Amino acid sequence: MSQYQAICEQLNQKPKNWLITGVAGFIGSNLLETLLKLNQTVIGLDNFATGHQHNLDEVQSLVTAEQWANFHFIEGDIRNLADCQKACAGVDYVLHEAALGSVPRSIADPITTNETNISGFLNMLTAARDAGVASFTYAASSSTYGDHPALPKVEENIGNPLSPYAVTKYVNELYADVFARAYGFKAIGLRYFNVFGQRQDPNGAYAAVIPKWTASMIDGEEVFINGDGETSRDFCFIDNTVQANILAATASDEAKNQVYNVAVGDRTTLNELYRAIQVALAENDVQFDRDPVYREFRAGDVRHSQASIAKIEQGLGYAPQFKIVEGIQLAMRWYVSSVE
Ligand SMILES: NC(=O)c1ccc[n+]([C@@H]2O[C@H](COP(=O)([O-])OP(=O)(O)OC[C@H]3O[C@@H](n4cnc5c(N)ncnc54)[C@H](O)[C@@H]3O)[C@@H](O)[C@H]2O)c1
Repeated sequence: MSQYQAICEQLNQKPKNWLITGVAGFIGSNLLETLLKLNQTVIGLDNFATGHQHNLDEVQSLVTAEQWANFHFIEGDIRNLADCQKACAGVDYVLHEAALGSVPRSIADPITTNETNISGFLNMLTAARDAGVASFTYAASSSTYGDHPALPKVEENIGNPLSPYAVTKYVNELYADVFARAYGFKAIGLRYFNVFGQRQDPNGAYAAVIPKWTASMIDGEEVFINGDGETSRDFCFIDNTVQANILAATASDEAKNQVYNVAVGDRTTLNELYRAIQVALAENDVQFDRDPVYREFRAGDVRHSQASIAKIEQGLGYAPQFKIVEGIQLAMRWYVSSVE
């Protein structure tokens, strides 16, 4: 039995109280689904800045009425300390996902990204510390590697940030570290590498690449690739990310006050991704045979990204269950069925 399976069984037998911030978003709603299916009690906090009620409705449709009754939603804003304090009351494990994602959004509006991702983060750290939670796991980002050229990315070696978003995610790590030194608070940062899967938003100017391309292909619209298509990423299916969060939240104290890469450890170019999505859509009877349209590279984008996952494998017992192709197949099934 894997460490993850063992922990899921323990949680099922002895349920805990969880707080998920950003619960109406992509990653938050997937964490919610898994935790409710494990019969946990979950408080969710969201202000619907980029999250959606329909994500919560979908989770409700996937769990039993008894499991759904274990979910308590607070519509609130992490920029408001009182909302954070209310949400943290009586909580064992915090999974802090609420933030404004997207590099281009942060370049267009660095102030709002800063308010949510830094001031909001500090509010959550403070509220969680004062509530005496057992652990605080937060969404860090691979963007923290910035211009450091080495591949694969190893946690200790970071470069200069390339966007306001990357600055905010690095500041999160610095604050978590200072809270450990100053208050003995125990946090774990998970540096996500391009997460994808069911419920990732395909709409809006700041949609991530996989949902954006998928929506365009389903609608028969042309797909743009920023640059020459040889930009590469370590795309990570959502279920791997959920596993990392549950392992982090329940980790021993020795494994805390650390940051860990969350990825698969593979590298896929945008050109390869394009073909993989075409193939997976065809398996779902969506034919899209057009070639991509290449355009300028995008400001703030890292050229190549691939994680070393040795630290999280050793430190938390993480074992990603989904490679990119399997993840793309599952995600495409969801996108095709959700537009029908
Ligand atoms: N998706 C990825 O590939 C990826 C990669 C690296 C890091 N991350 C981080 O993971 C976390 C979750 O990302 P996601 O992809 O699920 O994005 P998402 O936009 O789907 O979810 C973010 C959620 O946070 C909520 N939120 C935003 N501002 C808020 C505020 N002020 N108060 C309360 N709630 C607020 C949004 O409404 C949304 O529901 C974010 O911290 C993001 O920076 C994501």
